[in-house]
Amino acid sequence: MQIFLDTTDTAVLKDLAATGLVDGVTTNPSLIAKSGRPMLEVIAEICDLVEGPVSAEVAAIDVDGMLAEGRRLASVAQNVVVKVPLTRAGLTATGELSREGILTNVTLCFSAAQALLAAKAGATYISPFIGRLDDHGADGMGLITEIRAIYDNYDFDTEILAASIRSPAHVTASALAGADCATIPPATFADLFKHPLTEKGLDQFMSDWAKTGQSIL
Ligand code: G3P
Repeated sequence: MQIFLDTTDTAVLKDLAATGLVDGVTTNPSLIAKSGRPMLEVIAEICDLVEGPVSAEVAAIDVDGMLAEGRRLASVAQNVVVKVPLTRAGLTATGELSREGILTNVTLCFSAAQALLAAKAGATYISPFIGRLDDHGADGMGLITEIRAIYDNYDFDTEILAASIRSPAHVTASALAGADCATIPPATFADLFKHPLTEKGLDQFMSDWAKTGQSIL
């Protein structure tokens, strides 16, 4: 599973990327606004911090605007993935951008039917929003399972990028459901490492080792 961080916080990204476990980054207009920085500047910095795909979302909602902005975003760095919303205009733009060799991430996906159309449009990634569906009492993880089955039925190349992740359980369930990638808030990524029995076991190991009075070096 490819692990992406859902963030524009470059200091946090640099820290967590040092684990060697961060395969890419996703951003969205809300995260860009939260950064308080010029979009192209923060996207360029993120692209320098990670080698993998960096999703940068268009702001336009019409086809021509999405194409113009998508081409501009793609010119920032070779690892930029152009993110477009799952609308008629967004999927029309996805098809043209894909034909131009620009990688695309179709976002704000909330149904399997939407995901089917995104794959037909040639999307590189589809971003089903698990947490926001759960927030509305729907079955976010069920959507991942449905998309996986549909994509496997027709051998679509589009990669399932589980998004709107709220917990380590979402990451585990997405992996079990066959998502290709998950984009994870930094705090949730940090929680993935943690288990109370690991901490308890390590404390015991360190305590017992200290009693030996030995040094490995
Ligand atoms: O950036 C895409 C997605 O992960 C955002 O989800 O619900 O945390 O805003 P959310």
